Amino acid sequence: MDLVPLAADFYDTLFQNSPHLRALFSEDMGPQVAKLAQTLSSAVAQLDQREALHRDLMELGALHRAKGVETANYAAVTEALIAALARASGASWGPRSERAWRRLIKGVSASMLDGARRAGPG
Ligand code: HEM
Repeated sequence: MDLVPLAADFYDTLFQNSPHLRALFSEDMGPQVAKLAQTLSSAVAQLDQREALHRDLMELGALHRAKGVETANYAAVTEALIAALARASGASWGPRSERAWRRLIKGVSASMLDGARRAGPG
């Protein structure tokens, strides 16, 4: 699956559903799209190296806290991501893939939020 168009579609969906989140990002979304695609693919690649992944994601979560991202924003991101994944997968998408992706995104978000909390009150 090509993750770059998927990531672009994800941001379109996110900003359509939650226009207030657009202001958190810089105007040029190009690098951002590439970074999100990179993080998703390394999360999949590192599924069997949980500890290293957890540490990296905690750092990423602390960075998000510093950028003004709040816990509640993770739900909007999850839903936009699921919608973009479903569109990118076409006919191969189904309840099983949705469950697997939700589990992955939930785990990624939990590690990030753990890092955000440990970074101290935002
Ligand atoms: C599944 C959870 C998420 C992942 C995997 C993710 C991934 C990333 C990555 C890899 C970066 C780039 C970090 C860097 O510059 O080194 C980033 C930046 C950012 N993310 Fe996320 N993110 C997630 C959740 C969220 C949420 C919930 C929000 C809230 C709207 C958000 C908003 C941002 C913002 C504002 C930036 C900085 C953009 C800038 O510097 O212009 N992210 N994210």
